[in-house]
Amino acid sequence: MTTSTGEEPLILGIESTCDETGVALVRGCTLLADRTATSMDEYARYGGIIPEIASRAHLESFLPTLEAALDEAKVSLADVDAIAVAAGPGLVGSLTVGICAAKALAMSLDKPLYGVNHVLGHLAVDTLVDGPLPERFIGLVVSGGHSNVLLVRDIATDVEELGGTLDDAAGEAFDKVGRLLDLPYPGGPHVDRLSQQGDRNAIRFPRGLAAGKDKERYRYDFSFSGLKTAVARYIEGVRANGHTPNADDICAGFSEAVNDSLTAKAIAAARDHDCDTLVVGGGFSANSRLRELLADRAEAAGITVRMPPLRFCTDNGAQIAAMGAALVKAGVVPSGWTFSPDSAMPLTQPSMLPGR
Ligand code: KG4
Ligand code: ZN
Repeated sequence: MTTSTGEEPLILGIESTCDETGVALVRGCTLLADRTATSMDEYARYGGIIPEIASRAHLESFLPTLEAALDEAKVSLADVDAIAVAAGPGLVGSLTVGICAAKALAMSLDKPLYGVNHVLGHLAVDTLVDGPLPERFIGLVVSGGHSNVLLVRDIATDVEELGGTLDDAAGEAFDKVGRLLDLPYPGGPHVDRLSQQGDRNAIRFPRGLAAGKDKERYRYDFSFSGLKTAVARYIEGVRANGHTPNADDICAGFSEAVNDSLTAKAIAAARDHDCDTLVVGGGFSANSRLRELLADRAEAAGITVRMPPLRFCTDNGAQIAAMGAALVKAGVVPSGWTFSPDSAMPLTQPSMLPGR
């Protein structure tokens, strides 16, 4: 697609997979505006997201967030060349609000619409910081719902799933350990904060699928539920003896076990597939120990790691606009008007194709 001015096309990205309403504008690898509204504060008292509240919040936030993004980018809707919207994975009600809004806009403006995979967007967002992605790379997506190792030949057209979690995702495991230690929801960032004050060698927790036959059979897979149970047993044992568990050391030992698995397997995938670049994304990629350990291990293995800055780790409109830009650049056919939200959209599917 070329524009009348010869510039790269202006992409509007809309994200509403969970509790964030994100709207962003991107031209090529340049971010022009990125606005987010969140309903997270409403869930602290429930200990988890309530889908109905999230859907209503998207309805209320969408137009103000869109207007703020257009103002920030100093463009009008008529300037937009294509619209990208998160089609999944995510909460169906939340996704529906964003998709309906995107369809209405695209139809009334007569612009192409792309329903994109929001999890792959966690990798694509890195183009806005570090420029175009390499031809082949290993992707590590880590969030509250995913922990996957991907072989990416083209983020817009060719993604192969090498492995994933057999049970909990990394962020989910952190949130569960946060609950065991009575930390506020979501527990991930709190467990991360306490782990930085603790001794990571004080308690050795088990690493799932890391030894014997499992190590080969599940070479790029993860399992965190045994680890979570080990943490629960440890806390119970300390309390049963009349002591208060040392939350700092527990978080540090637990974080080390999770991040040891994530980094070892991602690096192994890069080595096995002759990839010299590893791109990391997703809410959990904000984790301090993941970033530190990955940087150290990748450097030792001669692999370049690309990690988006913290503001791009959680769900945002920029990741969706960046996916849209990649799809347009690759010449992928737009999604049409009939696609529905797919709460379990496969990671091998970068976008919705017409007629599906
Ligand atoms: O990608 P995301 O915003 O939402 C989806 O799951 O799609 O990821 C949110 C997850 C939550 O489980 C949250 O606790 C976790 O990422 N998280 C963290 C940190 N920041 C967010 N987990 C560990 N350390 C962090 N610093
Ligand atoms: Zn996400």
